[in-house]
Amino acid sequence: MRKRGRTSVIFFLCMAALLTGCGQKSAKEEINSIKIGVTVYDQYDTFVSQLMEHFKVYAREKSEETGIAINIEVYNASASQSAQNSQVEEMLGDGCNVICVNLVDRTEPTTIIDMAENQNVPVIFFNRELVAEDLERWNQLYYVGAKAFESGIMEGEIAADAFRKDPEADKNGDGVFQYVMLEGEAGHQDAIVRTEYAVSTIVDRGIEVEKLTYAIANWNRAQAQTKTAQIINEYGNQIELILSNNDDMALGAIDALKAAEIDREDWPVIVGIDGTDVGLEAVKSGELAGTVYNDGEGQALGMLNLAYALSMGEDISTLEMEEGKYIRLPYQKVMQTDVDEFLK
Ligand code: GAL
Repeated sequence: MRKRGRTSVIFFLCMAALLTGCGQKSAKEEINSIKIGVTVYDQYDTFVSQLMEHFKVYAREKSEETGIAINIEVYNASASQSAQNSQVEEMLGDGCNVICVNLVDRTEPTTIIDMAENQNVPVIFFNRELVAEDLERWNQLYYVGAKAFESGIMEGEIAADAFRKDPEADKNGDGVFQYVMLEGEAGHQDAIVRTEYAVSTIVDRGIEVEKLTYAIANWNRAQAQTKTAQIINEYGNQIELILSNNDDMALGAIDALKAAEIDREDWPVIVGIDGTDVGLEAVKSGELAGTVYNDGEGQALGMLNLAYALSMGEDISTLEMEEGKYIRLPYQKVMQTDVDEFLK
């Protein structure tokens, strides 16, 4: 580790590329290695860390397939935007061909954009979506993620189906679904949009809802456990549904129910989003009524292919992108009946 915050440097050097390139002087063959810099907002975030694992695997495969050495530098911004700005400065100084940024503060991309534009290095933002106007500031800015509203709609559909199919879900039999919302970071596009669409979808399905309370738990399992424990103390058996903006917080709620020694049959319906490995296991065991698969694997592949093409100076018009700059992967509902397909 050369600098604090840098978690790994991976080198894939393919000798074949070096050998076959001898004597050939076309512009394309002269490139035999590229360097991709990545900075994540928090390396301990379950979904983001799984996405990065996929990214490294895809980079290794791409390197084997093409004979181009792909060097990846990964930094952890530890939730500090100024630390992340410095990391980007360092990556630019290190000669990265492309920078991939999982913004800490999605409203503060300006410093990064200006630095990258000065050095003419493309930036791929991912997972934490900046406002569209910021992505318009330069023609070498891209975004890889998903359509947050889809995940909210699917979460609402899972909850509505549970209410309709299982009379036990309406514990007090009043025909109204009493719910608690566990929210991710304040201001995060996924938190805002998922919260809104999950509830409106249940209502659109003709089910009356009553919000008991909400808690912001920053995508974090331990924070969600603490907050849910307080909510259980206050609302106890009135809670019929816990809608969580992600799986980790849903699992934190489950931790709180277990710690409070509430009988399994008295648990509320709990729904998550992400389909992380731990989330999928909870769907399999039935502790989660369902989750919504956030395709981190597809996002990692999309980001790798784009980063590779940009680094190699290849035509990117063949990649599937909206408006020439957005790669968005679809979400999918995951229920106990089909969870095994996702666990594979
Ligand atoms: C969301 C994901 C959360 C968290 C967040 C971080 O898309 O569902 O679990 O990883 O991104 O930005």
